[in-house]
Amino acid sequence: MVTHPDLLVGTGTVDDAGVYRLGDDTALVLTVDFFPPVIDDPYNYGAIAVANSLSDIYAMGGRPLLGLNIVGFPVELPKNILGEILRGGSDKAQEAGCLIIGGHTVDDREPKYGLAAVGLVEPGKEVTVAGAKPGDRLVLTKPLGTGIITTAGKQERVSPEVMERAVAVMSKLNRAASEAMLKVGVNACTDVTGFGLIGHLNNIMEASGAGAELRLSDIPVIPGAWELLEQGIVPGGTHRNFEGAGQRVRWHQDVSENTRLLLCDAQTSGGLLISVPEDRTDALLKELEAAGIEGARVIGELLLDGKKGIQVVP
Ligand code: CO
Ligand code: CO
Ligand code: CO
Repeated sequence: MVTHPDLLVGTGTVDDAGVYRLGDDTALVLTVDFFPPVIDDPYNYGAIAVANSLSDIYAMGGRPLLGLNIVGFPVELPKNILGEILRGGSDKAQEAGCLIIGGHTVDDREPKYGLAAVGLVEPGKEVTVAGAKPGDRLVLTKPLGTGIITTAGKQERVSPEVMERAVAVMSKLNRAASEAMLKVGVNACTDVTGFGLIGHLNNIMEASGAGAELRLSDIPVIPGAWELLEQGIVPGGTHRNFEGAGQRVRWHQDVSENTRLLLCDAQTSGGLLISVPEDRTDALLKELEAAGIEGARVIGELLLDGKKGIQVVP
């Protein structure tokens, strides 16, 4: 494991980004992320890939500064498709106030796109997965279901309205949510992506030595995702997440099999999962609402006993 006096967050935790102190009031936040298309539309795919990459900086309480494009693209595909992907990414980075100052492209059988990005945070203000405390409330800032909906999209089994909702959720920057949590002061945060809600919550719990209770009725879901799940549309990654959750989760007997899958659904560019002290929860919800994040919900709380794992109740 790499250690250094100025390395504030390194490979020792499952955090979203590394943090390195440059001076008393400045630290760098570094991250990289890229993936194959989750949807057909190249412009929106580019925007989603960049929102997802920058999300790892926002989850740490950082402010994105600079990015480099990382691109895989088949030589035989029309170049205007690549142009649209990069235009979507560039527009999204601009919205974030992040400058894309270069990049690298390789020939690849399947397109891939994302960013290596650098952000800034005040040393000591970085938010990690490790600070959650018993009694904290868990707040999720985006609804679940993007894995199910994009998988349905690939099978051409989703309505344009439902797909549009998923694209809006995935393209939304976590900037306002990150600013709200910094303003209020929270104990831990991560963003919900490929390991699903349960997997990413488990990262917070293991790093913090706490258990958690999730209340099913409070967990936000993109309208339309449930119906697709009931038609049997489940991404491979979601199945793997569900199997991996195993011993860490105690499902209440009234929690259906499909609901269990939904909580394990592999997300793309999901929301922030924030562990906030109980007495600051209302303040956080108010800040999130004022920032236009209507979907944010308290979905559960942290428990004293880490051995109990995650309990999911109706
Ligand atoms: Co992340
Ligand atoms: Co990431
Ligand atoms: Co983090």
